[in-house]
Amino acid sequence: MEILQNVHSYLAYVVLLVLLLAVFNAIIGFAGNRMFTLEKDFRISLFALILSHLQLILGLLLFFFSTSGLKAIQAVGMGGLNAPARLLAVEHPSINIVAIVLITIGWSRHKKYMEGKKKFRAIAIFYGLGLLLILSRIPWSKWFY
Ligand code: HEM
Repeated sequence: MEILQNVHSYLAYVVLLVLLLAVFNAIIGFAGNRMFTLEKDFRISLFALILSHLQLILGLLLFFFSTSGLKAIQAVGMGGLNAPARLLAVEHPSINIVAIVLITIGWSRHKKYMEGKKKFRAIAIFYGLGLLLILSRIPWSKWFY
């Protein structure tokens, strides 16, 4: 379980960095009215999507197997959790699931459009919102790797 937690912790840096790059790239592409290229724009958005999904799978495993997830809720009940425990067991998992759903919606919407500007806009808005949600519920004080 500790290995899983370590991988989730390390991967968090990569996921946040790549999401940030994808969002900045989309904002710059939108503002500059650039063409949406396969080599750069498609790749970076897809990479951010895959990494988020990988982190989602690891997170779900942690939720079910770590002592800070479902087990913590079962031990003291939802109302018995203090704020830091609630962040780990409830807020972080649920908000991050919503965030990754938004990122996935952004990905599928970008594919529906032909125009570069609209593709960049879909990525910028949905990946951007997802990233903000993720940042709002990181257990910062526990994250030391
Ligand atoms: C991109 C999305 C995510 C990021 C960046 C992220 C990041 C993190 C970080 C930095 C920690 C603290 C690790 C530590 O103690 O050093 C953590 C813990 C945790 N995460 Fe995530 N996470 C994400 C998604 C998820 C999802 C979707 C779930 C569940 C569905 C989840 C479940 C958990 C759980 C249960 C813990 C506590 C693990 C423990 O202390 O044993 N995470 N996450």
